[in-house]
Amino acid sequence: MPESVNKLVDKFGRHVDYIRLSVTDRCDFRCVYCMTEDMTFLPRTQILTLEELYQIAKAFTELGVKKIRLTGGEPMVRTDVMTLIEKLGALPGIEELNLTTNGAQLDKHAPALKRAGVNRINISIDSLNAGRFKKISRVGKLEKVLAGIEAAREAGFDRIRLNSVIMRGYNEDEVISLTDYALDRDIDIAFIEEMPLGEASDHDRKETTCSNDWVKNAISQKYELINSTEQTAGPSRYAQIAGKKSRIGFISPVTHNFCEDCNRVRVTVEGRLLLCLGNEHSIDLRSILRDESSSMDDLKQAIIASMEIKPERHYFYDKEHAQPVRLMNMTGG
Ligand code: GTP
Ligand code: 5AD
Ligand code: SF4
Repeated sequence: MPESVNKLVDKFGRHVDYIRLSVTDRCDFRCVYCMTEDMTFLPRTQILTLEELYQIAKAFTELGVKKIRLTGGEPMVRTDVMTLIEKLGALPGIEELNLTTNGAQLDKHAPALKRAGVNRINISIDSLNAGRFKKISRVGKLEKVLAGIEAAREAGFDRIRLNSVIMRGYNEDEVISLTDYALDRDIDIAFIEEMPLGEASDHDRKETTCSNDWVKNAISQKYELINSTEQTAGPSRYAQIAGKKSRIGFISPVTHNFCEDCNRVRVTVEGRLLLCLGNEHSIDLRSILRDESSSMDDLKQAIIASMEIKPERHYFYDKEHAQPVRLMNMTGG
């Protein structure tokens, strides 16, 4: 069998051809849905080196993974991350190298990211009002992110997508303005339901979670949304507006479970291969990497074997099941 054939199939028959690789748990923002106010971050010895991250990516591509998305925390705060990105961009077998970022450093790095081979960028933006933006991100500056979005457009990235987590009492009245902002720039936008990943420190997630049915309805007051028939492998379901290039995405993990189509696994910056965002099932890749008697083949075998424990689905807000305790920055989006 040629190496490029996908060898990662779980016991529900789902093919894993996509990894989300977290390069840091740190971030220059402190978004209320993602982190607590007084976060402590991992010490350096516990996090994978850039070379270890590369070895993991290489192992996955040799097992048939074609798409890598770099996540965090905020990927761009990792020192020398660009050297990793350049190496990943040149990795045989990779069809898509993508990045999810808060956008705050794109004004500096967008052209270099493009040159390094990054295909697509998703940029988080939850408000277009500077004061609000600061309230949600606790420390972020809206103007930096807006400049980052413009820099990504100028650098010529295809299908830039904005990510907006809509929360009741925080930004639900900005659904139309965020949509218009994307439409005016011919870029995509995805509205995301807040997921119960760890305990938020300044709000009760049950009270803030805003369903995407509500968001859709709000947008429909101004625009007719035409559901796209396009099948994407990701969690986002897209709609379009007549005469507009942008796609409007809806990521609805709380109200519309999409686990049946799951094609992905995550690697945390500690080298924990997490088989599902909403469960604890994982294997430790770091210990294999740091064991001198282990080879690349051992790493690959462990990854293949992990498919057996990929859970069928998450159970957000289901009282019968334990809820995730990991915050998003430790999980890697
Ligand atoms: P693609 O790589 O194009 O599929 O983009 P994406 O939407 O998966 O990536 P992004 O990093 O922009 O994530 C957007 C939102 O989707 C974030 O809130 C992620 O946590 C969430 N998300 C991504 N993958 C999964 C998943 O497997 N399960 C759940 N429940 N949420 C996910
Ligand atoms: N629920 C939903 N989305 C979240 N993100 C971070 N934390 C959460 C959460 N609890 C989003 C960010 C970013 C992406 C990586 O995940 O806004 O766009
Ligand atoms: Fe940072 Fe993204 Fe988490 Fe906000 S959501 S604190 S930008 S990692």
